[in-house]
Amino acid sequence: MISFFKPSSPDKGHNILEKPPKKKAIDLKNTFKLVKSQVSLYHFAWILTIFLFQMFIFLVFFITNHGPISPSPTQQFSPIHVQEKDHHHHQQHHHEGVVIHQLDPPPPSDDDDGEKQQKVVTRMDFDGDNNNVKKPLDEQVILHLPPPSDDDKEQEKCKYGKVYVYDLPPMFNKELVKNCSDLDPWKSKCPAVSNDGFGPNATATLVGTVPEELTQSWWWTDMFSGEIIYHIRMLHYKCRTTEPESATALYVPFYAGLAVSKYLFTNYSTKERDFPCERFLEWIKDQPYWKRSNGSDHFLMLGRMTWDFRRKTDDDWGTKFLSMPLMKNMLKLAVEENRWDPLEISVPYPTGFHPRSVSEIEKWQEFVRRRNRTNLFTFVGAKRQKVENDFRTLLFDHCFNESDSCKLVDCVKTRCSDGSPAIFEAFLYSDFCLQPRGDSDTRKSTFDCLLSGSIPVFFWEGSFKGQYELFLSSEPDSFSVFIDRKEVRNGTSVRRVLEGYSQENIKKMRNKIIEFIPRFLYSFSNEGLGNAKDAFDIAIEEVLQRMVKKPSVTGQ
Ligand SMILES: *[C@@H]1O[C@H](CO)[C@@H](O)[C@H](O)[C@H]1NC(C)=O
Ligand SMILES: *[C@@H]1O[C@H](CO)[C@@H](O)[C@H](O)[C@H]1NC(C)=O
Ligand SMILES: *[C@@H]1O[C@H](CO)[C@@H](O)[C@H](O)[C@H]1NC(C)=O
Ligand SMILES: *[C@@H]1O[C@H](CO)[C@@H](O)[C@H](O)[C@H]1NC(C)=O
Ligand SMILES: *[C@@H]1O[C@H](CO)[C@@H](O)[C@H](O)[C@H]1NC(C)=O
Ligand SMILES: *[C@@H]1O[C@H](CO)[C@@H](O)[C@H](O)[C@H]1NC(C)=O
Ligand SMILES: *[C@@H]1O[C@H](CO)[C@@H](O)[C@H](O)[C@H]1NC(C)=O
Repeated sequence: MISFFKPSSPDKGHNILEKPPKKKAIDLKNTFKLVKSQVSLYHFAWILTIFLFQMFIFLVFFITNHGPISPSPTQQFSPIHVQEKDHHHHQQHHHEGVVIHQLDPPPPSDDDDGEKQQKVVTRMDFDGDNNNVKKPLDEQVILHLPPPSDDDKEQEKCKYGKVYVYDLPPMFNKELVKNCSDLDPWKSKCPAVSNDGFGPNATATLVGTVPEELTQSWWWTDMFSGEIIYHIRMLHYKCRTTEPESATALYVPFYAGLAVSKYLFTNYSTKERDFPCERFLEWIKDQPYWKRSNGSDHFLMLGRMTWDFRRKTDDDWGTKFLSMPLMKNMLKLAVEENRWDPLEISVPYPTGFHPRSVSEIEKWQEFVRRRNRTNLFTFVGAKRQKVENDFRTLLFDHCFNESDSCKLVDCVKTRCSDGSPAIFEAFLYSDFCLQPRGDSDTRKSTFDCLLSGSIPVFFWEGSFKGQYELFLSSEPDSFSVFIDRKEVRNGTSVRRVLEGYSQENIKKMRNKIIEFIPRFLYSFSNEGLGNAKDAFDIAIEEVLQRMVKKPSVTGQ
């Protein structure tokens, strides 16, 4: 009886007070009839109903006043979290060219949840070979796990389920980071993979470009370092479980992009190029939880564009990883997705700003909102003389010709790769920034542009269509401009098109972009930013939701 009245009574009572729609009246009548049929005595039914309702009110009152020890779940949670954030000062430990940053411990708290936390820690052996680093890291991890929570809160916190993180043989991840000088045929990737994937400290180089108090949250993050960033975050994820049988999703931290980067473009045989991925599939296919689902509850993060893993013919570049049969059920996160593959989700390229708190994000938002933008648009790039009819050369010349409204950053004269503040300077002073396609349709530069509060101008549909919709918007017109490259080739002036946007229009788009900023960032803290969701949180929640929605293959 109680379970019958609990959900229905408040709802219906509310509807009666408002103008009751006919359908609701019938519902009520049915409910009433049901009560009547269950309890044959008419008056007794009414007395019982009133009695139960009173009991219910009393019970609710009792629970809210005496249930949890502290006032309310929300009040209990946030202040502890905020306080914790203040203690996230980082230290650096150098180890064979790889810098590992870690957290200072907060003051000891009287956790009564020690047992559960201890269990998590025993799995955190990412730095397994290095005992000097491992021990303090583990200790700090214990202290940094979220405050104790009762089961209800735990369930609310992880309402989409939990993630299990595979502990892979080191050759699939940490050995690649360790062998960083060997990842790229042309230059060492050691700076790029340092600091847990954040890259070199950018504090000193950005003084004067970004607000003084935010310089410490900037790094020269490599566009392909997402595999490391996601892995580290996942090890500290609030909804991580160490028991695969209780996991909704199983995360495979194979650094596929780093593993193949050396082989993609140079003269390696297709066999050599596919070898690292084949070796990984050989390993995973024998794992019991893989066999249980054939990979359909597994996912991985690709730090490179999907096309690097989808070689069509043997004369082509790239690997065949994603067309290998064992990969057909697995969900993939990638910095550029194949929008015709329903099992791919594009996630933002990492930018250099990794805020430590919500307040830092707010400061940055205010900073970009208030800027005096003296240029209408900006173009960062170089002429490619060798490419006939090169579109970038066309934009370069246009920007050069319109120098009273376009800020040109010539990448032949200025260093445009990570480590130079010139690009940010340009974006921060411009209303629009031109984003022609690069080696692929999407570019990391688009996120640098957005982060600077500048409006991206696309020339290829593939640069925005179907990409990053979870993080930005499925309405690209609300925050970007599209000018078909054919029209530009045909004499349409980019400047004229952009001058067609009113100040009010520009402001509206910029406000939209500023609103998105927290959603496409990767925060500094391994535990995320508390209640504010960053790109990692959004991506993983999407993964979990998709796993829940899809019909179970496990047959449990
Ligand atoms: C890393 O380098 C070591 C020593 O040269 C080598 O034995 C190992 O196979 C390399 N690992 C990977 C994943 O390249
Ligand atoms: C980055 O470098 C600056 C000095 O250039 C230093 O003050 C700061 O502590 C460094 N940040 C980290 C996290 O090591
Ligand atoms: C690439 O390798 C093949 C066979 O290994 C060789 O015949 C060819 O000359 C090489 N090409 C270049 C550009 O090195
Ligand atoms: C996994 O795939 C194999 C080979 O296609 C098939 O025989 C098996 O039934 C599949 N298992 C599940 C759980 O779908
Ligand atoms: C922007 O320019 C206006 C007028 O030129 C000036 O009054 C204002 O102080 C400037 N704001 C900033 C943040 O520089
Ligand atoms: C730039 O100006 C030169 C000289 O006026 C002209 O020949 C050229 O077509 C212009 N290029 C573009 C892309 O506007
Ligand atoms: C390009 O311009 C020519 C002449 O103005 C016109 O006939 C043609 O339709 C245009 N093409 C496109 C793709 O706009």
